[in-house]
Amino acid sequence: MSAGENVALLQKFREHWVRPALFFGNNPISLAGGAITTASGVTMVGYWLVELFGRPNDNPYLGIIFFLLLPALFIGGLALIPIGVFIRRKKLQLAGQIPVEFPKIDLNDRMFRHGLDIVLVATIVNLLVVAMASYRGAAYMDSPEFCGQSCHVMHPEFAAYKISAHSHVDCVACHIGTGAASYFAAKVNGTKQLLEVTFDRYPTPIESPVKNLRPARYICEGCHTPARFVGEKLLVKSNFADDEKNTQTQTVVVLHLGGQDSLSHLTGIHGVHLGHIEYVATDPTRTTIPWVQKQNADGTVTEFKSSTLKGDGAPAGERRVLDCIDCHNRAAHTFMTAEDALNRAMADGAVSPELPWIHKEGLELLKTAYASQDEARAKIPEQLTAFYRGSNPEVLAAKASVVKAAGDELVTIYSQNVFPAMKVTWGTHPNHIGHMSYPGCFRCHDGDHNAKDGKSITQDCAACHNLLAVDEPKPKVLSDLGIQ
Ligand code: HEC
Ligand code: HEC
Ligand code: HEC
Ligand code: HEC
Ligand code: HEC
Repeated sequence: MSAGENVALLQKFREHWVRPALFFGNNPISLAGGAITTASGVTMVGYWLVELFGRPNDNPYLGIIFFLLLPALFIGGLALIPIGVFIRRKKLQLAGQIPVEFPKIDLNDRMFRHGLDIVLVATIVNLLVVAMASYRGAAYMDSPEFCGQSCHVMHPEFAAYKISAHSHVDCVACHIGTGAASYFAAKVNGTKQLLEVTFDRYPTPIESPVKNLRPARYICEGCHTPARFVGEKLLVKSNFADDEKNTQTQTVVVLHLGGQDSLSHLTGIHGVHLGHIEYVATDPTRTTIPWVQKQNADGTVTEFKSSTLKGDGAPAGERRVLDCIDCHNRAAHTFMTAEDALNRAMADGAVSPELPWIHKEGLELLKTAYASQDEARAKIPEQLTAFYRGSNPEVLAAKASVVKAAGDELVTIYSQNVFPAMKVTWGTHPNHIGHMSYPGCFRCHDGDHNAKDGKSITQDCAACHNLLAVDEPKPKVLSDLGIQ
C-alpha cells in the first residue's frame, strides 16, 4: 500500500466513521454512558491501587461491589455510548435531518486534534480496564471468600473449611475441574445456585454427597501421592466422663494405614483399597451399601453381598469406584459430634476440666436446640453462669474468668458445627473415616458382607488397628512412649 493510499484510507475512515460518530455521539444517553464508564473506571483503578499498596480486602461484600458490580457498570456505560448513537441516528433519519455533510474535521484545528487523541487514549485505557476487571472478577469468583463467605448458604461448609487442614486450598481446587469446559459448567451451576438463593429456593441443608464432584484421582491426587507409604499412625483420644470430676480416660490406637511399600506391595488401610473396589449404594447418602466387588490381583473378581440382598448381581442404585472421598468425605468440612468437640476442647484446656460437672453441663448446653447462632451466643454463657451460681457459687466466685472462657469456647464449638438457618445440626453430615459415631468403615466391614466361598469383608479389629488402650485412666503405653 502506498503512502497516498494510506492517507486516502485515513481520510475515508474520518469521513465515514469518525465524523458521524462524533456528530451522533453528542446525545444524553451516550454522554451519560461515558460518564458512568469514567466514574466506575476511576473508582476501580483507585481501589486496585489502594489494594496494591494498602490493606488487603477481607470483606466479601466489598468484593462483590469492586469485582462484579463496578465492572458491570463500566461495561454497561460503554454499551450505552453506541446505543445512544444508534437512537439519535434513527431519530434524525426519521425526521429527515441527517446532514449530507457531517461537520468538518479539521486536523489543523488543535482542539479537534486533542479531542481525537483523548478518544484514542480513552479507548486503550478502557480496553485495559476491561481486561483487568474481567481477570480480577474471575479470580474473585474463584476465591474462598466469594464461594464461602458472601453466600450465606455456604456458611456451614466455610466455617468447617476455615478450621480444616485444607483452609488454604481454594474451594475451586476441589470443586471445579481444570479447563474451559468445567469452568463454564461451574459458572452455569453457580448462576443456578445464585438464582436459587435469590428466590429462596435452595435446599437446607445443601445436599451431600456432591454428585458432580470429579473422581478423587483428579482432585486429591493432584496434591497427595496416593501410594505414599504412611505405615502406622498413632491416634490418641481423650474422653471425659459425666461425673463431678470430669474423670479423664484415654484411648490409644495404632492404625495400619500402610500404602505402597518399597517392594510395591499394597498393604494396610490405604493400600488395600487402592486396588480396584466398586460398590453400589442404595440410599442417597451412600450409607447403605449391600453390594461390593473387589478386583483381585489375578484379574478375577470377588463379589461381597450383604445378607439383606436377594437375587444375583448388583442391585439398582448408585455404582461407584471406591476412592479417597468414600472414606475422607469430610476432608475439608469436618463437622464434629458434640462429644468429640467437647472432649477435644477439654483435652486442650480451652474448656477447663477443673470446673466441676463441666462435661455433663457443657454437653447439655451444646445439644440444646437454639433458634439461631445468635441465640446460642447469648444463652450458652448465660446458662453456664446460672448453673454455677445455683449449684457451685464458690466456683463462680473463685474462677469467674475460667467459667467465662469455658462459655466462650462452647459458643465457638457450637458456631463451628450447628447452623440452625441451614438446618445443619449435630450428625447432619456423617463422617465415614471411622466407625464409632457413624457407620463409616462398617458400611462394608460389618461382618455381614459375604462372598460365595463364605469369606466376608473383615470385621477383625486387628486388621485395621491395634487397640493399645481403650478408655484407660492413665495408659501405661503413653508414658512408655514419653507422651504426656
Ligand atoms: C480439599 C478439598 C475441598 C476443598 C478445598 C473444599 N471442599 Fe467442599 N467438599 C469437598 C468434599 C470431598 C465434599 C463432600 C463430597 C461428598 O460427600 O460427596 C465437599 C462438600 C461441599 C458442599 C456440599 C455440602 C456438604 O457439606 O457436603 C459444599 C456446599 C461445599 N463443599 C462448599 C465448599 C466451599 C464454599 C469451599 C471453600 C470455602 C469448599 N467447599 C472447599 C472437598 C473440598
Ligand atoms: C491443593 C492441594 C490439596 C488438595 C487438592 C487436597 N489436599 Fe489434602 N492436604 C493438603 C495439604 C497441604 C495438607 C497438609 C495440611 C497440614 O498438615 O496442615 C493436606 C492434608 C490432608 C489430610 C490430613 C489432615 C487431616 O485432615 O487430618 C488428609 C486426610 C487429606 N489432606 C485428604 C485430602 C483429600 C481426601 C483430598 C481430596 C478431596 C485432598 N486432601 C485434596 C493439600 C491438598
Ligand atoms: C478405606 C478408607 C480410606 C481411603 C479409600 C483413603 N483413606 Fe486416607 N486415611 C484413611 C484413614 C482411616 C486415615 C487415618 C485417619 C486419621 O488420621 O484419623 C487416613 C489418613 C490419610 C492421610 C493423613 C496421613 C498422615 O500422615 O497423617 C492422608 C493425607 C490421606 N489419608 C489421604 C488419602 C488420599 C489422597 C486418598 C485417596 C488416594 C485416601 N487417603 C484414601 C482411610 C482412607
Ligand atoms: C465400600 C466398601 C468398603 C468400605 C466403606 C471400606 N472398606 Fe475396607 N475393604 C473393602 C473390601 C472389599 C476389602 C477386601 C476384602 C477382602 O479381600 O477380603 C477391604 C479390605 C480392607 C482391609 C484389609 C483387610 C485384610 O483382611 O487384610 C482393611 C485393613 C480395611 N479394608 C480397612 C478399612 C477401613 C479402615 C475403612 C474405613 C475408613 C474401610 N476399610 C472402608 C471394602 C470397604
Ligand atoms: C475396617 C477397619 C476397622 C475395623 C474392622 C475396626 N475398626 Fe476400630 N477404628 C477404625 C478406624 C479407621 C478408626 C479411627 C477413626 C478416627 O480416625 O477417628 C478406629 C477407631 C477405633 C477406636 C477409637 C475411636 C474413638 O473415637 O475413641 C476404638 C475404641 C475402636 N476403633 C474399636 C474397635 C473394635 C473394638 C473393633 C473390633 C470389633 C474395631 N474397632 C474394628 C477402623 C476399624
